[in-house]
Amino acid sequence: MPLPVLAVASECYPLIKTGGLADVVGALPRALAAHDVAVTTLLPGYPQVMAQAGAGETVARFDELFGGPATVVAAEAHGLDLLILDAPHLYDRPGNPYVGPDGKDWPDNAFRFAALGKVAAEIARGAAGLPTPQIVHMHDWQAGLAAAYLAFGPEPRPKTVATIHNIAFQGWFPPSLAAQLGLPDAAMTIDGVEYYGGVGYLKSALYFADRITTVSPTYACEILEPDGGIGLDGLLSGRAATVSGILNGIDVDVWNPATDPRLPARYQAGDLAGRSACKRALRERFGLDPTADRLTFGVVSRLSSQKGLDLLAEVMPTLLGLDADLALIGAGELWLESRFRALALEKPGRVGCVIGYDEDLAHLLQAGADAILVPSRFEPCGLTQLCALRYGAVPVVARVGGLADTVIDANPMALAAGCATGVQFSPVAAPALEAALRRAAALYADKTAWAALQRNGMATDVSWEASAGVYAGLYRQLAGN
Ligand code: ADP
Ligand code: GLC
Repeated sequence: MPLPVLAVASECYPLIKTGGLADVVGALPRALAAHDVAVTTLLPGYPQVMAQAGAGETVARFDELFGGPATVVAAEAHGLDLLILDAPHLYDRPGNPYVGPDGKDWPDNAFRFAALGKVAAEIARGAAGLPTPQIVHMHDWQAGLAAAYLAFGPEPRPKTVATIHNIAFQGWFPPSLAAQLGLPDAAMTIDGVEYYGGVGYLKSALYFADRITTVSPTYACEILEPDGGIGLDGLLSGRAATVSGILNGIDVDVWNPATDPRLPARYQAGDLAGRSACKRALRERFGLDPTADRLTFGVVSRLSSQKGLDLLAEVMPTLLGLDADLALIGAGELWLESRFRALALEKPGRVGCVIGYDEDLAHLLQAGADAILVPSRFEPCGLTQLCALRYGAVPVVARVGGLADTVIDANPMALAAGCATGVQFSPVAAPALEAALRRAAALYADKTAWAALQRNGMATDVSWEASAGVYAGLYRQLAGN
């Protein structure tokens, strides 16, 4: 019988997505099915989720869940087994799952995600009348309170796994909320959810989970240090034996240049002819000089200081001086949006920016750009460099977190050994990024070297196959079978 796992998350592609968390939560269940693991995913019932899930079966009811009634609906969508927490007073709001139209966090986020954790714990104890899971897998802080509700609640208590996708988001709320969460007083201590005087949702997960994973081996080391752990390094260091890094994959069916319906032309390793048509379409769509065929750098990113794109803005004179152009799609912090808008206005035909979120354009960018830039200050794993490898765009990345683990730098030894797939730079600062851009341009000028980078990249296994096996092994070890 397949091992039953309850995944708990606030995003899941293609139902609701703000970043890579959704991609992982959406792709992992399918990959795990091949390892005889049956994942059911508990998600908040945002309007987008309710609409796509269609009719389901109500499997549990709560008369009062932080200010209103709620039900749990079992449904299937996009091949995923879902449990949807339908609590209109908490989730029936348009747009982004975390922030309101004013750009600020919803003021009741503490309750919105406490509800997710509480209901996860109830389901794990059999509330939904479903077979109780052997493992509860919590993703990021939004799911974290499930660990406390399980730890302070009655038996049965399945084993728990907490995965850190980004430790910068910790879910800290003021102590005055503690009394309203329905946890005993004993929970509000250092041996519970108390964190820097308030309630810590990620802290709850990391304190109580049987195993802690994060999304790359290098990030698993970085978060044990003060710079990387951002306040949680002490707790994590104390539990270092339970912490491991399991590299993300991507859904290689969604991201497949040989079949991708979003591209104007398709191509595959060994025959990149279709790539030229994609590059032409990309340059046209981003307003880059159609008469030129310059080295085209691409960026697909949230615009946040994590991603180091302010450094890219700073070194644009160097990039343009290399006879290269830039196409960027991104959305996020306003200061970065205006910085790139301004750059596009200053350098028409050389810098093209689309400010917004657009899956179709993300695919076109991976297929049409020669190189993809990821200059992150920290990067737990990063998925865009994996897409780049698969699409024959050469990743140029900061040597941090998962970027360090997934791109093989074109240093002289790697070039001689024939295994290089991209360019890495360190430290994450403007001079090192400039040097990386110069190295990329020199490699691009050497057609044989560039073709080898593309070939090696496209031959890299970026699928979930290996990592799903590692998760399945971890679950089985915990479940004791
Ligand atoms: P993060 O989760 O930190 O944002 P990842 O690299 O792990 O970074 O995942 C980002 C995901 O979001 C990828 O699937 C990427 O293609 C997608 N993405 C990011 N920005 C955009 C955008 N502006 N438009 C479309 N897709 C985007
Ligand atoms: C986070 C991280 C990113 C990672 C993604 C999925 O958003 O910032 O590096 O790839 O989660 O795990």
